[in-house]
Amino acid sequence: MARFIIALTIVVVTVITRISCCDVVKLTFPSGFSLGTASASYQVEGAWNVSDKGVNVWDYHTHNRPELISDGRNGDVACNSYYKYQEDVALIKKIGFDFYRFSISWSRVLPTGFANVISEDGLQYYKNLTAELVANGIEPVVTIYHWDHPKVIEDMGGWTNELIVGWFVDYAEILFEALGDSVKRWITINEPDSFCNGGYNGVRKAPAKQIPASIGKYLCGHNVLKAHAKTFRLYDEKFRETQGGEVGIVLPLKAYLPFNASYEEEAETAFQFNCGWMAHPIYHGDYPDVMKTRVALVSEYQGYPWSRLPEFSDEWIAIINGTNDYFGVNHYTSELVYPDPDEEQGIYTYDNGLLTTVDSSWAASASDWLYVNPSGFGYLLRKIRDEYNNPPVWVTENGYSDSGELDDYNRISYYYEYVREMLIAIKRDGCNVEGYAVWSILDNFEWQDGYEKRFGITYVEFDDADTNRTAKLSQTWWTKVLSKRKLQSVPTSTNTRTRLPWKK
Ligand code: NOJ
Repeated sequence: MARFIIALTIVVVTVITRISCCDVVKLTFPSGFSLGTASASYQVEGAWNVSDKGVNVWDYHTHNRPELISDGRNGDVACNSYYKYQEDVALIKKIGFDFYRFSISWSRVLPTGFANVISEDGLQYYKNLTAELVANGIEPVVTIYHWDHPKVIEDMGGWTNELIVGWFVDYAEILFEALGDSVKRWITINEPDSFCNGGYNGVRKAPAKQIPASIGKYLCGHNVLKAHAKTFRLYDEKFRETQGGEVGIVLPLKAYLPFNASYEEEAETAFQFNCGWMAHPIYHGDYPDVMKTRVALVSEYQGYPWSRLPEFSDEWIAIINGTNDYFGVNHYTSELVYPDPDEEQGIYTYDNGLLTTVDSSWAASASDWLYVNPSGFGYLLRKIRDEYNNPPVWVTENGYSDSGELDDYNRISYYYEYVREMLIAIKRDGCNVEGYAVWSILDNFEWQDGYEKRFGITYVEFDDADTNRTAKLSQTWWTKVLSKRKLQSVPTSTNTRTRLPWKK
């Protein structure tokens, strides 16, 4: 009898907890919550050499190192959005998104790379796109830099040359002046970790410079922080009063979870090396202590007379500290963290001293780095809440890759589970998330993975000169979610449409 009562109590408590959790969450979006979708210039625009556009690092990289792109292709045409922007906007409106996050191609606006020549055609394209969005009731959210800086600037060292800070601010000022009456949410720089690591510490991203021992990567990050902060300060001084917008940086954040309960500290270190690298200077001034200590230690072990992590002067610390109106998060996946066993033998290979793996229960995607672990999203949002005093958060990207299925049940299920975690983090845990963007509105050029890995909720036929677009099932699902402002159940897979329906 006693056993029966205990069992009954457990069942009742579980049911009550479930009900109250779901009651809190209800899977509806809070009022005022903004739902949007995102893209980036090089990934969708095409028109790589129209009018007076200058060559950027991705044009140069894909044309000269096609072997570094899995299908050898490039963004010369991509989704043709330069010509099809009205169709794109109509689609975004039809689906019902509140905002569209797009990026601006630096060399399209400044063909020489510098502010001495402003391309009228280039700027006009972005004015047209912005006006089209506004006319259709869609908020434009603009990324100033999504990896495609002018080749001429790379010839001078790109992000490893501190002079880029001034050149970047000149470019940003032109955009604030030209578009700032309509654009109220600015992203200075997208995912520094990705291009600093992929582009200056390896060959996965342009400019594919293999500068040893993360020296280039850290220098790149150092200049990114300066460029971001100076741009924020410029907005403060010249534009905030009249334009009243918000400026922030977007970081690529994984959820770093301890491989087992004894590795909490290691998970914390991984978080600081990933998120803290950029966020700690912006929210607390200077790099995280653990980064400074560890990089100094490993640098010394390697024989460097200085730490490979550069130092900020007090003046720069003050300039950078406090330069985010909101916290921009791109989130896709999680990793499990454990210590590098070599360190016990006194061998220091990694600056963070860590190795990572994934859980065998996490479903794979088409991308080698993306495994599905929805609860990691909630974990990350709570971590940001605790670490940075619950800042307003904009999830500027979230999504799933496959090989182009039209009936993309896996993508729908990914979105359902991840967005549900986010809603719980908001409603139950008080995380201050204000906006969320689907990556991506269209299949597009996925950098080193070319066109083989597809993130779109819309299928794009890249082999066809018309770059036809076809709705995937996930697009239909999002349309319903947006009209009800509530998560919808995941349809069960009964049939699978073959691709290319317009081809007889
Ligand atoms: C983040 C990047 O910002 C975006 O350009 C990329 O396509 C997605 N991740 C997916 O890899």
